[in-house]
Amino acid sequence: MNSYFKRISTYILILVIALGVVNCSENLTPVLSSPDNNIRVSFTLTDSGMPEYKVSYRDKAVILPSTMGFEFKDQAPLKDSFRIAEINYKMEDETWPMPWGEQDSVRNHYNEMSIVLEEVKSPNRKWNIVFRAYDDGIGFRYEFPEQPNFKTALITDEHTQFNLSGDHQVWWQPGDWDIYEHLYSHTKFSEIDALEYKDNPNLAATYIPENAVNTPVTMKTEDGVYLSFHEADLTDYSGMTLKVDTSNNSMVSELVGSERLQGKAEITAPFNTPWRTIQIADRAGDLIESKLVLNLNDPNALGDVSYFTPMKYVGIWWEMHLGKSTWDMEGSQSMNTFTNSGEIRPNHGATTENAMRYIDFAAENGIKGLLVEGWNTGWDKWINTEDREGVFDFMTPYVDYDFDKVMAYAEEKGVEVIMHHETSAAPLTYEKQMDVAYKFMKDNGMNSVKTGYVGKIIPKGEYHHGQWMVRHYHKVLEKAAKMKIAINAHEPIKATGKRRTYPNAIAREGLRGQEFNAWAEDGGNPPDHLPTVAFTRMLSGPIDFTPGIFNIKFEEYKPDNQVSTTLAHQLALYVVIYSPIQMLADLPEHYTENGKPHPALQFIRDVGVDWSESKVLDGEVGEYVTIARKERGSGNWFVGGITGNEGRTETITLDFLETGKTYEAILYKDAPDSHWDTNPQAYEIESMEVTSGDKVELSLAPGGGFALSLIIN
Ligand code: NOJ
Ligand code: CA
Repeated sequence: MNSYFKRISTYILILVIALGVVNCSENLTPVLSSPDNNIRVSFTLTDSGMPEYKVSYRDKAVILPSTMGFEFKDQAPLKDSFRIAEINYKMEDETWPMPWGEQDSVRNHYNEMSIVLEEVKSPNRKWNIVFRAYDDGIGFRYEFPEQPNFKTALITDEHTQFNLSGDHQVWWQPGDWDIYEHLYSHTKFSEIDALEYKDNPNLAATYIPENAVNTPVTMKTEDGVYLSFHEADLTDYSGMTLKVDTSNNSMVSELVGSERLQGKAEITAPFNTPWRTIQIADRAGDLIESKLVLNLNDPNALGDVSYFTPMKYVGIWWEMHLGKSTWDMEGSQSMNTFTNSGEIRPNHGATTENAMRYIDFAAENGIKGLLVEGWNTGWDKWINTEDREGVFDFMTPYVDYDFDKVMAYAEEKGVEVIMHHETSAAPLTYEKQMDVAYKFMKDNGMNSVKTGYVGKIIPKGEYHHGQWMVRHYHKVLEKAAKMKIAINAHEPIKATGKRRTYPNAIAREGLRGQEFNAWAEDGGNPPDHLPTVAFTRMLSGPIDFTPGIFNIKFEEYKPDNQVSTTLAHQLALYVVIYSPIQMLADLPEHYTENGKPHPALQFIRDVGVDWSESKVLDGEVGEYVTIARKERGSGNWFVGGITGNEGRTETITLDFLETGKTYEAILYKDAPDSHWDTNPQAYEIESMEVTSGDKVELSLAPGGGFALSLIIN
């Protein structure tokens, strides 16, 4: 479309928005444009009265005509025979503050088109489809208004189609109903084969019923446009996977089901589904900068959440994953017996002395938090059994862990202890104990908890990503919020931007984390894992990945496993992988060299965890990514860059620095002979003074990276 027509259609749109409501006597093809007019969504009804939408970007189709509909148990489907009863337009341009985050505030600027549909035949049900167009993509959701002939329903299928404009490159992981801890694959759309990932022995729960992908799923078109499909505001519904039709470049929503329900989701009108989202960008990095998913959530419902402060933390954690110690005092559940069997090795990790050792390390290095796993009884029975209900009570410490003494020592040293609630995927027990457990935390000065849901969900027939569990995860957030507690969930439901409404949702796992490097039998995470995660999983929200492994090969513990990155890559993750809590995941003794603090530890001490600005300087999905972030308060900048399998050279221009200021730059980089496998721990440190506009030349090893701190002089 030439610019004249673009302008005219913008005027028409503005006129329509100004009018607000359009009453429709006959079918229209309403169009919605993004504020910058680059993205257009058009809606129509097919000849049979079926809702259909399409999306274009810069006048090229990105979503071809795609239909929408629902099937229910014991009621006719919402499928066709609709008329457009009304169209409502609205626009919004507001800015909202982030209590903590990647930036101080977020602009929420969109145009909205709400289509009111009515069945032309009995039972004349009403159904709204609301579209929002932003400059960085679109979202749409379904609304079931209150009405006489549609009160409650069991959805047996949602049919939202996404017909793609070509056989795109796709970075995907299987549509698992129980876990997101798969590696990403990079294939053409036509080559997606999720069923290949069935029955992975490294996963405590996994269920992949068909050829579907999980979201966010990221794509690159032949024209070089980046797309990412996800959902926003998943609150009381089932998680959405996308079933792929590889012969027709087509995807359709496939909700996670429940065997108990014999369906997907129960709803009661009035009801709004989560938003189905499509991020659209010219630059891969723009996907990361996009705040579309957050914007599609409701504003902060909690008000002040200053009981949580972003922090770095250490933990009695990696040592169990390495098999150096065990979660259980009985010693029957080491990481080896977890996957194999037998061997009793009484070597409890969470002892009073060990916790005090970590507290000393944290205090010496200005690290605020300490996570202690395996502090409470029950860890000898928590896994590999059907009988996991009531195993933990989240109150009773092992006898070799003097809870009060540890808490007092932590307080004396200015360290905050983070609670750990592994539920062993028995949410009913957890729901019974939550009140008491949260009170116990608050009584002892604890403000955040890492939760966990390892294993198949009890009751049987429910899945981690189904509506029943979505409700559970939400209940946890709400209850915790009432008690002023922040949640870092492992084996969670995916992030869908709920942290905007519930900023006590601080981070979560929901990906193949660092732990796989310690024990996975398939070689752990390959070098291109995190350059892929940055453009896929990270689009949904903060990640508790647990970076900072310095002892890359840990031969002493697991000679057959290793981290497949260089040390400098591990440092870069504190900037690249966003989270308001960042772990120093390695053992305290691995942060020393010749009896002194390891020189590279200085970067982790210095790096921020709460940001006023974030910029993705460059990146390609699965290959490399470089991100710069400005620390709140200090104004210092930190830059992190990582690369996958290929080494690369890079020049970064420091034009984001404040002009007129000088910064002390410390660069932590790969050595010339670094390599993730043959020489992963080689690094160099270089210091210089820089000002805005200076350039830094970098050379990253295969699997390598760099970290740069820019401290205002
Ligand atoms: C799996 C979690 O991801 C890990 O961080 C934790 O240590 C274990 N579960 C035990 O809860
Ligand atoms: Ca996990």
